[in-house]
Amino acid sequence: MTSERSKKPLIQAARGEEPDRWPVWFMRQAGRYLPEYRAVRADVDFVTMCRRPDLAAEVTWQPLRRYDLDASIIFSDILIPCTAMGQELTFDKGHGPKLSAPVRTMADVKSLKRADANKDLGYVGDAISLTKTKLKPAQAMIGFAGAPFTVASYMIEGQGSKEFTEVKKLIFCDRPVITALLEKISEVTVDYLLMQVKAGADALMLFDTWAGQVSPAIYKELIFPSTNQILAQVKRASGVPVIYFPGQGSDRMYELSGCAADVISVDWRTRLSNAGKILKGVGLDVTLQGNLDPQALLAPEEELRSLVRAMKEEAKSAARAHIFNVGHGLLPHTPPESLSIVIDELRK
Ligand code: CP3
Repeated sequence: MTSERSKKPLIQAARGEEPDRWPVWFMRQAGRYLPEYRAVRADVDFVTMCRRPDLAAEVTWQPLRRYDLDASIIFSDILIPCTAMGQELTFDKGHGPKLSAPVRTMADVKSLKRADANKDLGYVGDAISLTKTKLKPAQAMIGFAGAPFTVASYMIEGQGSKEFTEVKKLIFCDRPVITALLEKISEVTVDYLLMQVKAGADALMLFDTWAGQVSPAIYKELIFPSTNQILAQVKRASGVPVIYFPGQGSDRMYELSGCAADVISVDWRTRLSNAGKILKGVGLDVTLQGNLDPQALLAPEEELRSLVRAMKEEAKSAARAHIFNVGHGLLPHTPPESLSIVIDELRK
């Protein structure tokens, strides 16, 4: 397994080696911008799609059929583990995710189930194994989870949020409750990620979309430790490279000293060269991933090509290696042809 992995450009770059070619994939590369995704989704709700390995594998393959990508990321969602902890997850049209029974007291935390990743979330592993049967040897399979704070934010608010008021109430008025919740999520997340590696994941990614929603001091003392413990633990136990995405995180880079990630995924608000400098400054020699603004894919072809060329130039000296990606997930209005243009320009 290890020697097979070492021939995949994404894994080579993640480990800081010179890759056979410049690796590229797109966050949310499976999704509503593809008509073939919307066709599958027309008959099934999102959570059912995640629970059915045949459908999850099908939509995971869809972008790989269209584009020459170096990785596939398993089709699922960071909130799927919440269902194994006892919350019900629904997606109402146009309203984003909803979780039943928001977690706001110590009694709520205690009543959450200690999920058994193999038993309760085994369908994600089955989807990974099935997806792998049709990947090319050079393509890496990425498994993922949400970082504890980002997942906790949805569990506490019960939905997406702008102000995160319920989360902040716990941070400032009832710290033991959120600390206990982060611990509980972390335990499940470690088992869940290791299960994905057993099923065939070649690399793991931890999405911390809301890392930028708290002050640097709170991030450092409350959020980074549980996140980094997961990164370190799964890396030690599985040997696969780990990618960390601190969303809205330019300023978070200063707080990442000691981070166990092999790759930091940079959002589009930050220059790759600045991210590289800050990370080196806190003692991290890591690979960078990112960070084209996903809305840049709306640009006319020549403009888009020039943005990709500029990013290639910047990436060359920004870090030990680079994985081309967007700086946040693709949006439903992304023109599918734009991904071909980006890949073509990158391969020149
Ligand atoms: O990247 C991939 O192709 C893999 C699949 C993936 C999805 N969600 C599929 C999805 C991944 C890695 C995620 C992660 C995720 N989910 C994050 C972290 C990354 C990020 O984008 O910041 C977050 C915060 C979520 C929570 C979530 N899931 C939200 C807020 C939404 C609704 C947003 C929207 O566009 O409606 C989802 C739903 C979701 N997850 C969809 C997909 C393809 C759309 C569902 C649909 O078909 O309607």
